[in-house]
Amino acid sequence: MMFIRKGSLADKEALFNLYLDVSKKQNGIARAPEEIDILFIDDVFNNIIKKEGLLFLGEERTTEKVIAAIHAHKYGIGIFDHVLTHLTILVHRDYQHQGLGTELFQRFLSEIEKHRPDIKRVELESRASNKKALRIYQKMGFKHEGVLHQKTRNIDGSFEDSYVFAWENKNFLY
Ligand SMILES: CC(C)(COP(=O)(O)OP(=O)(O)OC[C@H]1O[C@@H](n2cnc3c(N)ncnc32)[C@H](O)[C@@H]1OP(=O)(O)O)[C@@H](O)C(=O)NCCC(=O)NCCS
Repeated sequence: MMFIRKGSLADKEALFNLYLDVSKKQNGIARAPEEIDILFIDDVFNNIIKKEGLLFLGEERTTEKVIAAIHAHKYGIGIFDHVLTHLTILVHRDYQHQGLGTELFQRFLSEIEKHRPDIKRVELESRASNKKALRIYQKMGFKHEGVLHQKTRNIDGSFEDSYVFAWENKNFLY
C-alpha cells in the first residue's frame, strides 16, 4: 500500500503537512506543532542538499499522499564526514503500527549499504519514553551507545533522558 521514493524540493508542502500531523502527538518528534513552519522545512531541505543527506518518502499508492518520511544529513565538518546524523523518521498518525516505518527504514539503510560507501555511521537520539521508536531502532540493528541525562524537558515540567543510538554500514569504503 506504500510506494517509497526519494524526496525532492517539490515535496516541501507534503513534508510540512506530514510534520504538522505527527507533531500533534506528544512524545514523538521533538518539535511541537507551533514549531513546525516553512523555515524549519527549508532547513531540512538545505541540510539534505548541502550536507549530502538522504530523504525518502512513503506515498500511499492510491492517493499519492505522502504518509511517511525518513531523513538524515552529514555535519558539514571534515572530521565527521563519514557520519549521517539527526536521523528522523515519521509516519502519519493514521498509518502507524502497520509496518510502514519498518519498511521505510529498511529502504533507507539498504540505500546506504548499496550506494553510500562514504558513510560509516548513522546516528540518532531518542527520548527514553518513545518506546515505539526505541523498538524500531533496535529492530533495524542500531546499538544503544549512551545516555544524555535529562536532555528533554517535557510539557509538564518533568525532565527525561535521551538515548544515543548508532548503526554501522558494513560496506563503508572511504
Ligand atoms: C516511530 C514510528 C516511526 C514507527 O513507525 P510505525 O510505522 O508505527 O512502526 P511499525 O509499524 O513498522 O512498527 C515498528 C515496531 O514498533 C512496535 N510498536 C508499534 N507500536 C508500539 C507501541 N505502542 N509500543 C511499543 N512498540 C510498538 C511494532 O510492534 C514494531 O515492532 P515488531 O515488528 O517487532 O512488532 C512512528 O510510530 C512515528 O512516526 N512516531 C512518531 C514520530 C517519532 O516518534 N519518530 C521517531 C523519533 S524521530
